[in-house]
Amino acid sequence: MFRPTVARQACKALNHASRSAVLTATSRPAVTNSFRSISSTAPRAKNDEEDKIKNDPFLTATTKAPEGTLGETEGRFARTDESLQIEYPDDEHMPRSPVVQGRGGMHFKRTLAQFSLENKVTLVTGGARGLGLVMSQALVASGSDLAIVDLNKEEAEEQALKLVEQFRKENPGLEQMPNVTAHYADVANPDSVNAAIAEVISKHGRIDSLVTSAGFTENFDAISYPHDRIQKLWGVNVDGTYLFATGVAKHLMERKVPGSIVMIGSMSGAIVNVPQPQAPYNAAKAAVRHLAASLAVEWAGHDIRVNCISPGYMLTALTRKILDENPELRDKWISLIPAGKMGTPEDLMGAVTFLLSDAAKYITGADLRVDGGYTLT
Ligand SMILES: NC(=O)c1ccc[n+]([C@@H]2O[C@H](COP(=O)([O-])OP(=O)(O)OC[C@H]3O[C@@H](n4cnc5c(N)ncnc54)[C@H](O)[C@@H]3O)[C@@H](O)[C@H]2O)c1
Repeated sequence: MFRPTVARQACKALNHASRSAVLTATSRPAVTNSFRSISSTAPRAKNDEEDKIKNDPFLTATTKAPEGTLGETEGRFARTDESLQIEYPDDEHMPRSPVVQGRGGMHFKRTLAQFSLENKVTLVTGGARGLGLVMSQALVASGSDLAIVDLNKEEAEEQALKLVEQFRKENPGLEQMPNVTAHYADVANPDSVNAAIAEVISKHGRIDSLVTSAGFTENFDAISYPHDRIQKLWGVNVDGTYLFATGVAKHLMERKVPGSIVMIGSMSGAIVNVPQPQAPYNAAKAAVRHLAASLAVEWAGHDIRVNCISPGYMLTALTRKILDENPELRDKWISLIPAGKMGTPEDLMGAVTFLLSDAAKYITGADLRVDGGYTLT
């Protein structure tokens, strides 16, 4: 609010000075005179501006951060706090994700048939837990067969059985159950990715759609972030997305059939979260978003659509655990969300189904933000 006024006044002073310089330079040959008017008026304008800034606590705070006169309040809610460190837990400390109840099933509400995923085979990376698991459930409920690919194969197998069980409960009397399989892959490793894709094709006969949800975040300030952990983070979030997308696209191109890919980015690819520092994660998710756009263009001629979903703060079993241990962090996060609450994994069920389905046939390269309005403010 104040900065543009200062800038306007400074511009005015400069314009005035340079106008008189041009005028005198063209109408009079006395070059020294022409510049005298600048040097005699500019210092006064500068002093006036400096005085104004010095005497206005808001301007001082705005221009002299971090030691502004507004003390503690200054920038407080808009900065990262380097004392906040959250490590991604080891596997044995990971909470299990429940299968969502009552979101699929037979229903008789009219809706567009275009939203159906019947006769599709979808591969979901990171589908054993969290957002990947709930999105997997949405795809099964919408008629797709499913291959869950995860580092944790045992949990993926368990969840695959539970998804079919839940589907059976919600669709009593239906004879044909969805084919849901579980596979191992470390998404950051090209050989492992290729082996997983080959295994899925051998089990399902083909792959039509892909959702890349394997990913994780950690919090360290940039200076002390252990380098090996940054490489792991970029490996899983960026390489993992790239390797699966190219592997599945190659398979689709060989079959000469259309396909749809949804990459799970994050609102962190568009904004900088506070107060927890996480520069490498933010950069990784910006990469995912732009990878979706770039591949959308590259593969448009092959009828392969590539879109990104950027979730905001979602309440998975893992974020719930982290926030239960850091209630102050939870309150800060919620205070920054226009919707006034965190999202739930179920909030992604419609978004992922839509983007994979024919209802989104002309949508490619889009970034669908599911963030309660976080990135708008
Ligand atoms: N939870 C949120 O609030 C949130 C918000 C925005 C974006 N995201 C993104 O959504 C995606 C899913 O996050 P989540 O909250 O469900 O996490 P999660 O930890 O609950 O689930 C991630 C899954 O990915 C698997 N995985 C991790 N590394 C892997 C690897 N190298 N190879 C194969 N599988 C691997 C894990 O075993 C797990 O099953 C991530 O990309 C995350 O960055 C999450």
